[in-house]
Amino acid sequence: MNASQASRTELKSYLKSRRDEVETVLWELLPKPDGMAARLNEAMRYPLEAGGKRIRPLLVLIGADFCRGASQADLYAGRWWPEGEDELRRALLMTACAIEMVHTYSLVHDDLPCMDDDDLRRGRPTSHKVYGEAMAVLSADALHTLGFQILASVPERFAERSYYVARDLAVACGYPGMVAGQVVDLEYEQKQGTEEVLEYIHHHKTAALIRAGLTMGARMMGGAGRDVEILAQAGMKLGLIFQVVDDILDVVGDTAALGKQAGADEKLGKLTYPALIGLDQSKARVNALRDEIFALLEPEGERARVLLDITTELVEREA
Ligand code: IPE
Ligand code: IPE
Ligand code: MG
Ligand code: MG
Ligand code: MG
Repeated sequence: MNASQASRTELKSYLKSRRDEVETVLWELLPKPDGMAARLNEAMRYPLEAGGKRIRPLLVLIGADFCRGASQADLYAGRWWPEGEDELRRALLMTACAIEMVHTYSLVHDDLPCMDDDDLRRGRPTSHKVYGEAMAVLSADALHTLGFQILASVPERFAERSYYVARDLAVACGYPGMVAGQVVDLEYEQKQGTEEVLEYIHHHKTAALIRAGLTMGARMMGGAGRDVEILAQAGMKLGLIFQVVDDILDVVGDTAALGKQAGADEKLGKLTYPALIGLDQSKARVNALRDEIFALLEPEGERARVLLDITTELVEREA
């Protein structure tokens, strides 16, 4: 194994452990499937229990660690939390769960027949296939609001930080962000678009929430000013990488590995990077964005290394 393979293995095992940590809190925060509305609670848990990469919650933790200057060596060795900071740990993990709930709501709606009309998500039948359209819509609505409820329930000493965190999330997922991107994505189905329109779609529907992961983590850590600004800039570029790679994998990826139907974009006539500029140019765009992130973050030294590792991972991912 060479050095870069070794560090990739280390990153993967680090991310897996942190994902487990997030999920422990996630299962606790989701409602139990009992009572009069048991089926609603079950439908809320369903798309989260199906899995997913948990990239956005991981970015919350990575943004927080960037702000407090945690070293890659400490993080990869499992030294994640400073002693005596149990409440901060709780607040950060709640923040991580909140963004995952909001992201998951957006997937449930994205798959509806009135949107992308997909049958497979996270390796399972989509929510509307299992629970029907009305319950899919309503359970996703409930995940959306639960995300914000959780941000309003962090330990009280972090209430002021949570005010900024909630605003980042609202801006990213609402009309200035994800919803606007989804609207223009749908408007441009079967229509010729320009690179300007396409970048608008990807920045809004995906990059805004990826960026918010990093800045929410930073703000819950007490970060502000230049630190948040650097993370916001890197996050927007990382978010664009993420969606261009999603577009590429829709063409070259494998349905079983992706856990969602490959080839769906072409079928719907979506405006995507491969459709507009071709696969090779799309990959070149991803590499250029990666170089921009490295140029931005390398001067930050040790504290940026995990973020740079995950950037490389998201450029090279195959699912
Ligand atoms: C899918 O997001 C929707 C996009 C913005 C591309 P992810 O690829 O993060 O999906 P999960 O959460 O891992 O299922
Ligand atoms: C969806 O983009 C972005 C969201 C806001 C959910 P896609 O429609 O490309 O996501 P997938 O490919 O269905 O996951
Ligand atoms: Mg879509
Ligand atoms: Mg879709
Ligand atoms: Mg896609």
